[in-house]
Amino acid sequence: MKIIHMSDLHLSADGALVWEEDCRRKFLTAIEQIKMMRDIDVIIVSGDISNDGSLDSYYFADRIFAELNIPTYWCAGNHDNLSVMFTIFKPKFCHLSNQALIGGWRLYFVNSVAKDNDEPNSNRSKGIVAMNIRKELDGLLSNNPEPSIIVLHHPSLEIGGWQDCKILKDRETFREMLGRHKNVKLVLSGHVHIFSVKKDKNILYSTASSTGFAFSTGLPKYKINQGLEGFSRISLSKKDIIIENVLLAQEK
Ligand SMILES: [Fe+2]
Repeated sequence: MKIIHMSDLHLSADGALVWEEDCRRKFLTAIEQIKMMRDIDVIIVSGDISNDGSLDSYYFADRIFAELNIPTYWCAGNHDNLSVMFTIFKPKFCHLSNQALIGGWRLYFVNSVAKDNDEPNSNRSKGIVAMNIRKELDGLLSNNPEPSIIVLHHPSLEIGGWQDCKILKDRETFREMLGRHKNVKLVLSGHVHIFSVKKDKNILYSTASSTGFAFSTGLPKYKINQGLEGFSRISLSKKDIIIENVLLAQEK
């Protein structure tokens, strides 16, 4: 099975720039690159589809993904507006389902976004998997024997940079739960805008870069690392999982 893992598109209403970056144009560049790739079974977007939570940004992404005609699944990120994304927006093509079964692999999409108590109209940057969601996932992983992929916006393993203070708060509990299920093979996240692959208790944890703007562990906080925007291409077989970082094509 072949997966495209995209994350942190950061689209805005009417294509407004984000931190002086044209995230809409870069997203379209990534789509053109995916159009050239063969035999992609599914596209996964691990949150921050929108930068401003606008309905316009979700409809734009849905319409562009429909052009690829490859099954596409989203989970929410901290920049997404959860009520707009899950209640007002009615996707024509993309899926906001909690799980899917594709090519013999079971995919679970987990919400790790929490509301900010001080600012009710926005989300916290740091993630958390609510206890009821963790317990429900624990039960599903026990009952469904297929090899499984977990998708959530916030990384559950440190990447070794300034971003680590903003990842999943309850990550050790979450990883401990996943580690008890031999069918869990891969965990996909975004949020840090950096490509990474690490292993913990026989599970691969990978973060995709952002298509809009990339960071680096070696640069100061929020300093954009130009040229590292991209997405991941993943090949899965019964024997192994190969994860490749695909950089966005640069304009000449
Ligand atoms: Fe993001």
